[in-house]
Amino acid sequence: MKKSILVTGGAGFIGSHVVRRFVNKYPEYSIFNLDALTYAGNMENLKDIEHKENYTFLHGDITDEVFVNSIFEKYRFDSIIHLAAESHVDRSITDPLAFAKTNILGTMILLNAFKELWKGNWEEKLFYHISTDEVYGSLGENGLFEETTPYDPNSPYSASKASSDHFVRAYGETYGLPFVITNCSNNYGQNQFPEKLIPLFIHNIINNKPLPVYGDGNYTRDWLYVIDHAIAIDLVFHQGILTDTYNIGGFNEWKNIDLVKLLCQQMDEKLGRAIGSSSQLIAYVKDRPGHDLRYAIDASKINKELGWNPTVTFEEGLSKTIDWYLGNKEWLANVTSGNYQNYYKEQYQ
Ligand code: NAD
Ligand code: DAU
Repeated sequence: MKKSILVTGGAGFIGSHVVRRFVNKYPEYSIFNLDALTYAGNMENLKDIEHKENYTFLHGDITDEVFVNSIFEKYRFDSIIHLAAESHVDRSITDPLAFAKTNILGTMILLNAFKELWKGNWEEKLFYHISTDEVYGSLGENGLFEETTPYDPNSPYSASKASSDHFVRAYGETYGLPFVITNCSNNYGQNQFPEKLIPLFIHNIINNKPLPVYGDGNYTRDWLYVIDHAIAIDLVFHQGILTDTYNIGGFNEWKNIDLVKLLCQQMDEKLGRAIGSSSQLIAYVKDRPGHDLRYAIDASKINKELGWNPTVTFEEGLSKTIDWYLGNKEWLANVTSGNYQNYYKEQYQ
């Protein structure tokens, strides 16, 4: 049967890698990409596949119920891979309501449209919700997030994602809607908007601007190359057990300050600058309010059940990422013009 798959947020960072993978690997599927093209969405991210026959771009907002219902009726999607979200923690601190609207209400509107379309005829149907490890809150020095770890979100972003996860489960329990949820750790790689740590710091090093490390820099994140996340999503989409949750992580914990030093070293080498020059740009700045100390994922379930493992080491992935940004200065210049300058001033000055 030809599958009709709606990917939401496909013009964003992770979504664009997922769309590319599905469009290229599954010509028998019809892939629809619904994206509002907020500051984080960029048609340039999908230039290489935009003319493929099995790909359709739908410009619209997941919080626009009338529009969402109309495309569900028109295209009768068998499956949804839901990535559209407001995704940056710092922005959620300055504008929490925008996060509630897109991440909670938007998810509910999609769930409802899916429920109304299939009215309980759920054979071969799937709502795949992409979530984050941040819903589990913060770890101390030890321990890992497991699928059974209780939710304990600390930022408006993570609270909105936790809430959307609960609604997905509630639709499963109440209406029998077939779903799967994955909770992934920090992604990095090409096409990431330069508000997140790694692309922001690459951009600042290129431009000899300060590297604003929050607090003492001793916060820990578990980093995963974005293409390894897309591979995991493909596996879970095809082989995941309905109503299950899978944690996805890189087995790759770094303290922010150590990561920044590695990044500085690789950038010095690639830019032909004296070793140690980029690290002189490090500037400790005011901490993020409610800053989670440590995230680390136990990804043994997806590893054992679906045979998934990261394919790229952090040093390799970081090197490829830097090469991409150095080779795509026009992309970087485009996304950092206009509103980005206002955002940057408000966030860092
Ligand atoms: P992103 O900010 O790069 O992209 C989000 C995309 O969603 C953009 O294309 C944007 O235009 C679109 N979008 C936003 N609001 C919309 C709306 N109302 N209607 C339609 N489209 C809208 O985000 P990302 O980093 O690619 O994250 C994608 C998903 O993965 C999110 O759900 C996020 O919570 C989750 N996630 C991200 C990470 C990470 O490290 N980036 C890790 C785990 C989970
Ligand atoms: O864990 C998964 C989450 O990872 C995703 O759900 C989010 O969408 C994604 O944004 C990311 O959240 P983080 O807050 O961990 O990522 P960010 O890149 O914003 O920050 C990583 C760490 O670096 C964090 O400890 C804060 C710190 N930081 C970040 C910025 C932007 C700085 O020290 N300085 C900065 O300027």
